[in-house]
Parts: sequence; C-alpha cells; structure tokens
Amino acid sequence: MASKFQAPRGTFDILPGPARPRRRLERAAVEVFGRAGYEPIATPVFEDTDLFERGVGKSTDIVRKEMFTFEDKGGRSLTLRPEGTASVCRAYLEHGMQKLAQPVKLHYLGPFFRHERPQAGRYRQFHQLGVECIGTDSPLADAEVIMLLADLLAELGVPGVELRLGSLGSFEARRAYLEDLKAHLHAHEGELSKDVRERIDINPLRAFDSDDEGTRGVMASAPTIVEQLEGEDAEHFAEVRALLDATGVGYTIDPTLVRGLDYYTRTIFSFVCDRLGAQSEIGGGGRYDGLIEQLGGQPTPAVGFAAGIERILLALDEEVAEEGRDAFIAVAGPEQRQRATALAAELRHAGISAELDLAGRSFKSQLKHANRIGARRVLILEADGSAQLRDMETGEQRPADPGNLVEEMTGGEA
Ligand code: HAM
Repeated sequence: MASKFQAPRGTFDILPGPARPRRRLERAAVEVFGRAGYEPIATPVFEDTDLFERGVGKSTDIVRKEMFTFEDKGGRSLTLRPEGTASVCRAYLEHGMQKLAQPVKLHYLGPFFRHERPQAGRYRQFHQLGVECIGTDSPLADAEVIMLLADLLAELGVPGVELRLGSLGSFEARRAYLEDLKAHLHAHEGELSKDVRERIDINPLRAFDSDDEGTRGVMASAPTIVEQLEGEDAEHFAEVRALLDATGVGYTIDPTLVRGLDYYTRTIFSFVCDRLGAQSEIGGGGRYDGLIEQLGGQPTPAVGFAAGIERILLALDEEVAEEGRDAFIAVAGPEQRQRATALAAELRHAGISAELDLAGRSFKSQLKHANRIGARRVLILEADGSAQLRDMETGEQRPADPGNLVEEMTGGEA
C-alpha cells in the first residue's frame, strides 16, 4: 500500500539524483564568493518574529501574509526565516562585527520559508544563496556584489539572463518621491485595482508590480524615482553604472523596478531569466543603508543579494548525470568479505570512491551491480586469496598483486 504521507504543500524532497547539480551549484557559489573574500556565515532557521517585522517591514507581503510564525513553549513568538539579510545583520550586531575591518563580507546558503501559493519556481520552503557586504557605502561594493552574481550565473552557464538595475535614492529622497507617487495614485484611484487602492498610503511602490490592466495604465504615466534622483544619490547611481560599464556587465535601467522588502535604499537590482515562467527572477538585492540602525545599531551602510537555488536549477534544466564510482570490490566467496571491507575503507581513505556488496549477492550479480552503479573498475577477490582487476569500460581483466591492492588502484589504470 502506498504511504499516505506526503511532503507538506509547497515543499519537496531533494532526492540523490537531483542533488548532484544542486551540489555543483553550491560548490560553485562557495568558490566564486570565496575568491572575492566573502566568508561563510550560517544563522538559525528561526528568529524572533520582531526581527523580521522590523527588518523586512510591516507593510510588506512577506510580513503581512507569508511568514510561518509560531509560539514556542515559553510563549515567545518565533518565525521561520523568510529571508537572510535581517538575520545576518542581527548576527553582525550581536557579535560586534562593527569592530572588525570594514566592510565585513559574508555569504550564506540554506533553506528559507514563505507561505506563498506554490507554483513552478515558488515554494514554501526554498533555498537561497546570498552575500552581504556590510560597512561601506561605496558604489564599488554595489558593483562587486552585482558582479558576483553575474559571475556565478555565467560560470554555471545559466542561459537567457538579464540584469535590471534601479535606484530608490536615500530614505529622505524616497519619502519625498513617495508623496508624489501617492498623489498620482490618488488622482487615478478609480482606475486602480482594489488591492492597490487599499494600499496607496501603506505601500504605493507595489503598484508598479501589479498585473491589473487598469493599474498598469496608471503606472505607465507615474513619476519614477530614477528620474528624480539628485545630488549624492544621483552620483552614487552614476558611479555604480560606470563601474558595471567598465567591467562589461550588461544591464538595463528599469525605473519601475521595486522589491518586496522595505529596507532598500539607493541601488536595487534583479536578475531575470527568460527560461522561467511567471517566477522569472533568479535573484536580486540592493543596498540597505538604514537596516542596521533600524535593528538598533549605529548607522551602517550595506549591500547584498540573494538568489533562489531552485530557480537557478530550473533555468539550467540539467540532465542528471550518473556520478559513477572509481571501484567496486567483488568477492568470489563469503570468506573474502572481511578483506573486502578493510580494503574498501583503505581505498576510501586514499580518496578513491569504492563500494562493495552489502546485500549478499552471488558473484555474478555483484558484477551486474557494479555495472549498474557505474563502477569504472572491479577488484575481484578470489576465494584462494588472489585478485583480479577488471576494467568495466574495456572488459579487460588482469591479475593484481594481492599484497599491493591499494597501490594497484591508486597507481596506473587497469
Ligand atoms: P528576495 O527578492 O525576496 O530577496 O528573494 C531573493 C530570491 O529568492 C528571489 O529572487 C527568488 O529567486 C528566490 N525566492 C524568493 N521567494 C521564493 C519562493 N517562494 N520560492 C522559490 N524561490 C524564492 C531577499 O530575500 C533579500 N534578502 C535579498 C537581499 C540580500 N537583499 C540584500 N541582501
């Protein structure tokens, strides 16, 4: 009878086959981020609910509708992390990282949780890889983190990627702009969708994200912050663009770009991929110069991004290649099992992937099994203590020196 249990809605199991391209991706990320001096950090998967309410923002969809919040046995309100930036900033403050040489450059990778309606590329438990560069307002840092994600996607060979770039200005500039935007939305209230209309004064920027036709019409003539940028905000944005131009990272300016988190200031960006359907954003981020202060620290500018691991994998749509083994140790009779076990351990210590039969198969089925798991060579331990080495690709077989089996395997090919 089939099991009645299933993974909860919006979650999935990562099975051994699909785990391989995922592992390749994770290794590539650690490599690319590490080469630029970003050190790994891991934070708990749950935090005080208040951290996300304050960090991500009470008016965002994430906090209003999508958090997995629960009370622990001590009556504390906890939330499964919906994103990583607030947690990393909390850790930065908690561990006094402002005393280290700045900026502090960190990268992370792990599961995140949002109670969204599941669809292709959108899950309730998903995985992100991300970087945060904390403690500098230099446009060099903005350009660096953008280049890191561009490099990673290029190194993995993700096709059809486009970078969209925008700027929200400083908090003050944004506040002034939001008044203009609200005025525009109020002037066209009758043409807006109910959802947007109800949130004009709470989160007017989200109107740019609406699929509603009437709203889209209103937004086509809405003022954008990019055209209103001035002074240091305008200079900062120009410098980020110049740095990207100089390094050959292609982008388009998108004055309507908005992001679903409240902490952004100045640069925001989004990498989209035309191979993905509705959930086309592979990754994105931006500058969040006010967040650390918001969480109780000194004013500390910072910039970062996160990318969805499942979305990158969907875009790559890779064949799950069999990994194969270096060696399989077959025994002609049960009396050789102990020797085979010891030998497998020795080979593994020497860095060779080796397996042996754990299921009591006949000699013939052991060879079949070796073939099925893609073993390149089979070491046959004969009942009389002699040994043979068989190359599974050519079918060639030759005697092996029973006293030097590890050397036989680590040395030249069979
Ligand atoms: P975010 O845009 O909310 O940003 O998420 C980053 C990425 O996570 C998205 O581009 C998408 O690829 C993936 N993602 C988000 N929600 C889901 C989901 N339900 N299912 C699958 N994938 C998803 C942040 O989280 C910010 N913390 C990024 C950041 C870091 N900004 C500055 N530093």
